[in-house]
Amino acid sequence: MLAGKRILLIIGGGIAAYKGLELIRLLRKSGAAVTPVMTPAAAQFVTPMAVAALAGEQVHTDLFDLTNEAEMGHIQLSRVADLVVVAPATADLIGKIAGGLANDLASTLLMATDTPVLLAPAMNVRMWEHPSVRRNVAQLQADGIATIGPDAGDMACGEYGPGRMAEPAAILEAITSQLRAGPLAGRRILVTSGPTHEPIDPVRYIANRSSGAQGTAIARALAGLGAEVVFVTGPADVPPPESVIVRRVETAREMLEAVQQALPADVAIFAAAVADWRVRRESSSKIKKDGGALPVLEFDENPDILAQVAQMGQGRPPLVVGFAAETDDVLAHATAKRARKGCDWIVANDVSPGTGIMGGTENAVTLITDTGAEDWPRMDKAQVANRLAHRIAEALT
Ligand code: C5P
Repeated sequence: MLAGKRILLIIGGGIAAYKGLELIRLLRKSGAAVTPVMTPAAAQFVTPMAVAALAGEQVHTDLFDLTNEAEMGHIQLSRVADLVVVAPATADLIGKIAGGLANDLASTLLMATDTPVLLAPAMNVRMWEHPSVRRNVAQLQADGIATIGPDAGDMACGEYGPGRMAEPAAILEAITSQLRAGPLAGRRILVTSGPTHEPIDPVRYIANRSSGAQGTAIARALAGLGAEVVFVTGPADVPPPESVIVRRVETAREMLEAVQQALPADVAIFAAAVADWRVRRESSSKIKKDGGALPVLEFDENPDILAQVAQMGQGRPPLVVGFAAETDDVLAHATAKRARKGCDWIVANDVSPGTGIMGGTENAVTLITDTGAEDWPRMDKAQVANRLAHRIAEALT
């Protein structure tokens, strides 16, 4: 997937450095060459010998290494890569980049490079939340430096919260999407996700329980296979993935407009839980409970975004995928929905309360295509997303 690509991997000094070894292994497995750089602190956590053995290349540690200076030089070293990855990116390294300091090899490379940079921060949760780190991260993002993670969870230091480095597999995905490499390279894919909010008045709205988790996982998986993803999302609980183009909307009508603007696309996936109805006369001021009559809400039907795109004729994406969240007779209802909406595939699932699927972390889906129905075992939403992304890549080849 990454054949012909070279990653300059800077390993910072933190306990997450051990995950850097796994990242090197995954990068090599996917065909990338890795130029490893370690800070002196990183060498306290993993040995340069292990890093060199896995990378199959010399480890660079010293700014004033005369042999290197004569042969290549740190400027050159910073330019030969397709992507510079810092994993783990410690508070110290982040601070140096944000502040423009270059007093060792890692920070000098980061300042001298003209290739894109991806940071995988990892540090104690209190450090991550410290105002100076918040400020530095915001500065780096404003400077166009991409970040992945950190994840929340138990930390090596015994505390809990955001600060764990993203898993190596997720970093590999972010690298692939940043380099737009992989089987979906050159493909543009539209994904809708999350609920919509339909206003009643300036403070109240009608919504649904969609968390946006499945749509977000799908967008991330597609980007991880190299696609350019336009992610049209309602107000979801989970943050959008890195490395996708995000279009935030509130209402179904805004979602339709954002979808139309995002076309043309090779594939369109409609994972959003769009409100079927909107309130006919949205009040411009807060509706008061004056002790009088109870308010009566009238509704209008929202546009069916999936059906409109699936039936648009000219400019229709070659592959249109809809979702069917059903509480009974899943297969029959979903098969009928596929025909009624005019989409190519339907990803059907049972969202009856006992399944815990709506808002949960797992999903059990049936994929309905023109060749029939396929039951997938219950699995993590990220796994469903990966399987779907690979199926899409196969379908496009
Ligand atoms: O009709 P139903 O809501 O069950 O269909 C579900 C599928 O249609 C999902 O893919 C959903 O994203 C899409 N949909 C849509 N616009 C609507 C309603 C549903 O795109 N107004």
